[in-house]
Amino acid sequence: MIVRGCFVSVDNKTSQEIQEFIIRNVGSHPTDIGRLTAEKFGLSRVAIVNRLGALIKVSLLVAEGKTKARRYALKVLNSHQKELQIVPGLTEDQVWLRDVKPHLLGLPSNVLDICAHGVTEMVNNVIDHSESTTAAISVSRDAATIIITIRDYGVGIFHKIQQALNLSDPQHAILELAKGKLTTDAAKHTGEGIFFTSRMFDECSIASGTLLFIRLRRTDDWLFESEEAPKDGTEVVMKIATNASHTAKEIFDIYRAEFDQFGFSKTNIPLVLLKYEGEQLISRSQAKRLMARIDEFREVILDFKGITSIGQAFADEVFRIYRREHPVVNIYPVNMAPDVNGMIQRSLSGNPDDPLNEYLRGDMEKHKVT
Ligand SMILES: Nc1ncnc2c1ncn2[C@@H]1O[C@H](COP(=O)(O)OP(=O)(O)OP(=O)(O)O)[C@@H](O)[C@H]1O
Ligand SMILES: [Mg+2]
Repeated sequence: MIVRGCFVSVDNKTSQEIQEFIIRNVGSHPTDIGRLTAEKFGLSRVAIVNRLGALIKVSLLVAEGKTKARRYALKVLNSHQKELQIVPGLTEDQVWLRDVKPHLLGLPSNVLDICAHGVTEMVNNVIDHSESTTAAISVSRDAATIIITIRDYGVGIFHKIQQALNLSDPQHAILELAKGKLTTDAAKHTGEGIFFTSRMFDECSIASGTLLFIRLRRTDDWLFESEEAPKDGTEVVMKIATNASHTAKEIFDIYRAEFDQFGFSKTNIPLVLLKYEGEQLISRSQAKRLMARIDEFREVILDFKGITSIGQAFADEVFRIYRREHPVVNIYPVNMAPDVNGMIQRSLSGNPDDPLNEYLRGDMEKHKVT
């Protein structure tokens, strides 16, 4: 009896693993999910056909086309859209409790918390900043992913920030948003909403005018694109896996500087957002744009992912001049290519006692190919 029970539980476990594998991979493998699953678990063709059939029967999957042209997809389990009138008295909590939460029943509490955070922050932004009289919120869910979209028809986020900060290009607003603590209404806001929301969701995109800004959590990528057709107002799309394991608190804690009692005083700035297509990071003016408002933080991670080289004036401005003028701001470069590291070391060469020298040599050592 005991032995049989043991086998049954192993089978159940494997069976759940197979189901989970199909759910998590069918999106990127609509036509070859059967082959992929069969290879991974050593299943026969018949077994895999039966298994996919069973998932269709319980309404988790849908399929179309015959034999070789057969495509599978996750079935949309719930899709709901609501128009919002932005009238005095409307609050973000009402929208969350009335229009979104009821469509997210049964999710793990960490995922629900992140959704609550994203919805309340983004709806608050519509109410307080968009100047729109209407908005739309939609929630769509399949077995793998929750997608929440919030759209308004107001002044547009990038345009608003460009005007308020007097930026020469709306694209510069994206870098400022990624830095955090950016608000156009300091009397009532602190500029944390987009900073944390964009880091909590697996994918968060903001589209407005001709700009589209996307943050991907898993690969830690920050992308921006120019769209041909301009979008009036602002559209924020937030996606999270139904089995995400991180919590909102973990994300908040990352941006608490060491010994910090006041929370948000650390930031992580992706330098790719400073770079226009084909442009190199070489000038002092680019460095100044990067470091604008940075004195509001105590700890600043400069993420060089995707940057292969930097110019001497740029490195000098950030790592020698800025640091000398702002000794309380601790600046750490990360994900440096060897040329980037070398140029930063060069900017410090006049000051061999600077502790950053040791950090840079250590980083170089770490990435050495042996
Ligand atoms: N839907 C929107 N339409 C127009 N501008 C927006 C919109 N959402 C955000 N913004 C602009 O982006 C800025 C940053 O938004 P974010 O939510 O990060 O901070 P905040 O709302 O100012 O402060 P907090 O979220 O901490 O209350 C806002 O101050 C506002 O200028
Ligand atoms: Mg906000």
